[in-house]
Amino acid sequence: MRSGSAGAVLLCLCFISSITSIDASLYNSTDDVVILDHTNFTATVHGTENAWVVEFYSSWCGHCIQFAPTWKLFGRDVRDWEHTIKVGVLDCSVDENVPICREHEIMGYPTVKLFAARTTKGDIGSAMPHLTTVEQLGEAVTDFLVEKQKANSGSKSWADLQPYKGTVQTLLESVSGAEWAVLVIDKTKSHTAWALLMDLAGYPSIVVRYKDADQDDVKQFGTAGLPAVMIVSKDGKEEVLNDAGKSRDEMRTAIMKKLMLNREMLGKKTSSVKEDREGAGDGQPEEINKDKLNYGDDLPDTAFTSMERNDQVFMVDIENAVSYAISHEVAQHKVIKGEKLLALQEFLDILVRYLPARPQVHSFLSKFHHYTLNHGNSIEGSKVNEVISSLQNKDSVLPSQQPWVGCAGSEPKYRGYPCGLWTTFHVLTVNSVLQDGAKKFYRPLRTVKAIHGYVKHFFGCSYCSEHFQAMYAEDAESSIKVADDTILWLWRGHNKVNKRLKGDASEDPQHPKQQFPSPGACPSCWQGENFSEREVLTYLKTIYAKGALSFRGTQIIPIPPRNRQEKVQQQLDGYRQHSQVLISHQDNKLSRDQSPQNNGSWSFTNTDISLCVLLYGASTIIIMAVYCSVVIRRKMRRRKFLETYKLPNTADGPNPGVST
Ligand SMILES: Cc1cc2nc3c(=O)[nH]c(=O)nc-3n(C[C@H](O)[C@H](O)[C@H](O)COP(=O)(O)OP(=O)(O)OC[C@H]3O[C@@H](n4cnc5c(N)ncnc54)[C@H](O)[C@@H]3O)c2cc1C
Ligand SMILES: *[C@@H]1O[C@H](CO)[C@@H](O)[C@H](O)[C@H]1NC(C)=O
Ligand SMILES: *[C@@H]1O[C@H](CO)[C@@H](O)[C@H](O)[C@H]1NC(C)=O
Ligand SMILES: *[C@@H]1O[C@H](CO)[C@@H](O)[C@H](O)[C@H]1NC(C)=O
Ligand SMILES: *[C@@H]1O[C@H](CO)[C@@H](O)[C@H](O)[C@H]1NC(C)=O
Repeated sequence: MRSGSAGAVLLCLCFISSITSIDASLYNSTDDVVILDHTNFTATVHGTENAWVVEFYSSWCGHCIQFAPTWKLFGRDVRDWEHTIKVGVLDCSVDENVPICREHEIMGYPTVKLFAARTTKGDIGSAMPHLTTVEQLGEAVTDFLVEKQKANSGSKSWADLQPYKGTVQTLLESVSGAEWAVLVIDKTKSHTAWALLMDLAGYPSIVVRYKDADQDDVKQFGTAGLPAVMIVSKDGKEEVLNDAGKSRDEMRTAIMKKLMLNREMLGKKTSSVKEDREGAGDGQPEEINKDKLNYGDDLPDTAFTSMERNDQVFMVDIENAVSYAISHEVAQHKVIKGEKLLALQEFLDILVRYLPARPQVHSFLSKFHHYTLNHGNSIEGSKVNEVISSLQNKDSVLPSQQPWVGCAGSEPKYRGYPCGLWTTFHVLTVNSVLQDGAKKFYRPLRTVKAIHGYVKHFFGCSYCSEHFQAMYAEDAESSIKVADDTILWLWRGHNKVNKRLKGDASEDPQHPKQQFPSPGACPSCWQGENFSEREVLTYLKTIYAKGALSFRGTQIIPIPPRNRQEKVQQQLDGYRQHSQVLISHQDNKLSRDQSPQNNGSWSFTNTDISLCVLLYGASTIIIMAVYCSVVIRRKMRRRKFLETYKLPNTADGPNPGVST
């Protein structure tokens, strides 16, 4: 039976670790972008003749969700440029990709980086400013390529973007297989001409060059006729395409029609050096089949489908956020020192003081806090995960990622981490006030300041961070005077964000942004169209209080007796009775959460327990089956062995050299 229970634990762990690797990628194989990850970034990007432009993003970051459609369109727009540049994406929110993002010093999402040809280890790429249209992106990328080529750091496979000064015949002779020379004539630094050059450079039967319109041999076009296209055949026939139009698309279509080119002919001329090395990974473990793992199939219980929220706060969301913050966002920094280190120490201090964490988690946070205090002037991000491992034991745990419960989105790309972080922040402000607010030493600004420090230095969503810093600079110091202001300031700030994001691409359609709390959840918080701040304060102190947190969905490690505050419970029930809007379906969920069966030291629901029993049973059966089959096989082999060598059957003797 020992092995049975060990098996159950193992099985549980596998189960847990498999459901947490949910693929929230914003891109898939149908998009014209190369999806990179830790197994193939180096093998794919380093050492290629083509340049690369890579978007480092995070699947939970709102601006990345907004930007993804543009990046896809851009990828499609330049898909024929792959001889010169390829478009890639890498998701920094995936644990295993963190080292790559750290090496490339990605401090915010999305970050777009350009890599010239034959990139080597240590080249962190050059960051591109944040651009929002396909056209701007194309121009920025082109400028980079033109510069590199001018400085002789291009490569032979690239389209030649520099103005051509020689004769057409030499040009045709210099390129084997070329039957036509296509000259694109335009004023200097024409992005249209450059784009066209790259669009067409992949066709083996043509050679395309850029002619500066002020050169003598093309002066006849003047300025009105630009851009112009001239086609010269091998036997010297010249033709100007008169009806080619003036836009890149029109001209490309006209040229392709004229020369009977189609996209199937592409790519025969040049090929990226590393093209065949796909799968040349770094001995990565087998992939888990991520397609099967989505919230909908595995965890019908975790996503609330109704429009009206029930504002239950879940510990698992907080643990996920804290864990991601430390092992991911903090670990992604190259070095943490100076102001950054102070911010980290202060945030950890607040977590240790006010997060109503489980004892093991509390113990871990406290040890990690000590580590940051006693590790000299700087901490290397690449060491953080080692430190995390070394600080863990059965009494000190940084929980691994579990499926989100309150912060579960209707699709993996929605909600999750930023939602968990907000939740953590509210829990911190509320519990700092409940615990210490009345004490003499309490400094009202401190909790919000520590939160600000984390957001400023570590929160990877750069826009969010900037907005939050602006909000803090605007009125935090002037409006936080007494303890309760801490809670209300964060609540107001969060509502400003909710207002701004209403209808945004990052909004989960199942969880529309609304002013919080909704009149349905807290009728007394509203007076007509306005909030009653006094009631809101009471409500926030109720739902975010230590005793109101639900432990549903937290990892199965022993939970110590929890001191459920009856008063809080009654208050919560009171609020809920008021709200007539609550849909019965949700009530079911509530009652499951707050049912008397839950009234003890263990916060598992019936479903949790039966699931575990089921898992336990299943694993026992599997272990028994494996054991039986091994024993039977061993016996069979032994018999065969004995028969073959005609040895007497010494049942208790040593195993005669058969290793199974
Ligand atoms: C500090 C910070 C700044 C951000 N700034 C931006 C930004 O500028 N641009 C951007 O696109 N995204 C920003 N985000 C992300 C964005 O606010 C949401 O977190 C994200 O879109 C997920 O939304 P959600 O529906 O899960 O609810 P969230 O807004 O994440 O809220 C989580 C939970 O908190 C509760 N809640 C909601 N409002 C309040 C309130 N006023 N007071 C108390 N509790 C509340 C609700 O129960 C809600 O489910 C920011 C996130 C953080 C943590
Ligand atoms: C890829 O994503 C798009 C939406 O962005 C979706 O419509 C499509 O079905 C996905 N394709 C695959 C193969 O997953
Ligand atoms: C890198 O690996 C991921 C995951 O295995 C895969 O989806 C992607 O297509 C790979 N990319 C390349 C360029 O091989
Ligand atoms: C709401 O607030 C506005 C301005 O603060 C005020 O004019 C209005 O009367 C208030 N409405 C109610 C119903 O109290
Ligand atoms: C929880 O149990 C205690 C006694 O153990 C009891 O007094 C209390 O009423 C119970 N609460 C609920 C909600 O069942």
